[in-house]
Amino acid sequence: MFVHRSREWDLPETAATPESLALNRRAALAAMGSAALGFGTIAEASAQTPITMPAYSAQAMRFAPGRAITPIKNAETYNNFYEFGLSKDIWRAAQKLPLEPWTIRIDGQVEKPFTISFDDLMKKVKTETRVYRHRCVEAWSLVIPWQGFAMSELVKLAKPTARAKYLKFTSLADHSVMPGLNIPFFPWPYHEGLTMAEAMNELAFIGTGMYHQPLPKQDGAPIRLVLPWKYGFKSAKSLVHIEFVETQPKTFWQQTSPDMYGFWANVNPKFPTLRWSQARERVIGTDQVIPTVIYNGYAQYVASLYAGLPQNKKLFM
Ligand code: MTE
Repeated sequence: MFVHRSREWDLPETAATPESLALNRRAALAAMGSAALGFGTIAEASAQTPITMPAYSAQAMRFAPGRAITPIKNAETYNNFYEFGLSKDIWRAAQKLPLEPWTIRIDGQVEKPFTISFDDLMKKVKTETRVYRHRCVEAWSLVIPWQGFAMSELVKLAKPTARAKYLKFTSLADHSVMPGLNIPFFPWPYHEGLTMAEAMNELAFIGTGMYHQPLPKQDGAPIRLVLPWKYGFKSAKSLVHIEFVETQPKTFWQQTSPDMYGFWANVNPKFPTLRWSQARERVIGTDQVIPTVIYNGYAQYVASLYAGLPQNKKLFM
């Protein structure tokens, strides 16, 4: 892991909990390499020349990313998409993802369950660009100009009943193109959850494009979650099913490693996860390591969502 100790936020390596404590089924998966059961090992950041911020509208920039946009080549070639393998370098393998036809099932506690094609869904929503920070629990980050639509629009289309308290999101699981599905112990398909209040929050976004192009396959084409105040693993890719449910759904990582991951996964530099200190982050595409900020710097928009909950590590794992 990249460690740069000249700044005050840098912790010594010993401050991070030893990896050996982190993986509850580690022995069984040892043969699979360091990425097994808990995200991959971080590669060194490559030092590059300073990046100039491209012109994006004030509307797109209204959530003030405060950092330069990540070069597109980094965002497209440094990915987590375990269905295609455990390395960061799955972009070639992901090109096999079939996008046509793509349908999304919306059901559970809704007035009338329905299945909609991706193309038809896009005709019903207002698309926009939002430049957001994107912080992975592995302590690296990007800044991405996403295209897509507010998640609240999708909730309104779905017409949930009063019994709907949570949303459960499920990614595609296609054995014919996704070798990662053969990895044992992972509770495929990849699935995530949000509360209704989180889904209605103005930051919650559904991504369908980035850098003004359709979402690359490796980034979760054709449709994914974008939840910038939470660790990146909450932002499930290549969605095929959205279910409105009454009780809190167990998430993919919660089921895989309950000692490491919980339902909320809000970014907080004060709570290390078992495998990583979360105090700082490597800015991909630069040689910078910077301090991480609570809620990834979006507290003004989202902290109120959690005001009634115990402010302990559960909210941040
Ligand atoms: N969604 C699916 N279906 N499968 C995955 O492995 N990885 C998650 C999240 N969504 C993942 C996923 C993790 S760990 C991260 S950090 C982000 O996707 C990475 O998104 P990016 O590759 O577009 O940066």
